[in-house]
Amino acid sequence: MREIPTNNAATRSILITGATGGIGAELAKRYARPGRTLVLWGRNAERLTQVATLCCARGAAVITRQIDLTDGQVALDALLEDDKRASLDLLILGAGLSDIKPANATTEDPKKVLQLALVNYTLPVTLATAAAQRMISRGQGKIVFIGSVAGFYELPFAASYSSSKSGLACFAEAARLDWGRHNIKVTLIVPGFVDTPMSQRLKGARPFLVSAGSAARQIMQAVAIGQAEYVFPWQFRVLRIVERLVPQFLRKKILLSLKADQD
Ligand SMILES: NC(=O)c1ccc[n+]([C@@H]2O[C@H](COP(=O)([O-])OP(=O)(O)OC[C@H]3O[C@@H](n4cnc5c(N)ncnc54)[C@H](OP(=O)(O)O)[C@@H]3O)[C@@H](O)[C@H]2O)c1
Repeated sequence: MREIPTNNAATRSILITGATGGIGAELAKRYARPGRTLVLWGRNAERLTQVATLCCARGAAVITRQIDLTDGQVALDALLEDDKRASLDLLILGAGLSDIKPANATTEDPKKVLQLALVNYTLPVTLATAAAQRMISRGQGKIVFIGSVAGFYELPFAASYSSSKSGLACFAEAARLDWGRHNIKVTLIVPGFVDTPMSQRLKGARPFLVSAGSAARQIMQAVAIGQAEYVFPWQFRVLRIVERLVPQFLRKKILLSLKADQD
């Protein structure tokens, strides 16, 4: 069987947002190798240092940036500065926030909705656009959005999260069509439950859970072959087909009956 090269040495420079998170840190460690520069973004300084140390030990040159993505202008300036320093070949937009409406509340907290919309949608599309502009001028590049299977559903208990991810999916597809004409490959990664701090906060079952290591390996494969969209684990690909057979009225009933809570 032919092995898919997930870690092509031609990719010399990678920026990962959310590099302090479960999936982002795993990607950073696996992409780390001699001859490659990793630009790692995160908020948690201690964790950023830990991940950077591991990546350096694996031979990568590492630049870290402690940054809060709710400040859009700062993040945009930082992207341009880091791209000037490192000439990015690959941008992975992994940072994300989740939220679930508390059981006793009528709506989500508007302040959290604002943060989530910035971190999950506004900043990824802004940073991607800035990176694409510069990559196009260099003739090539890859941009990876991390969506979620939650984006397939209008979740009443997580309206901001599910809509941020479906918006991201729509942007990724449009950008892929447009930027593809300039040799920019856009990949949308659509994970189910991954065993990271984000999903560990959920109370209740996490069906078809995969480890962060397995998620990172699958993401790297999808990126390496320039896949447009990659949904995992496979059970969610099957669900996606099955749900098309469900009539709208029943879909709404099912969505309203779903319950979720988090710590
Ligand atoms: N885990 C899952 O089950 C699952 C499923 C589907 C999709 N996803 C998506 O996968 C991506 C990675 O999630 P994960 O599972 O690795 O979650 P995680 O472990 O909670 O990591 C989230 C990352 O986002 C960063 N982040 C959050 N708010 C930020 C802000 N205001 N400014 C800068 N960085 C910020 C965090 O930085 P700090 O820790 O430094 O604050 C952290 O690096 C997210 O986009 C998520 O929506 C996850």
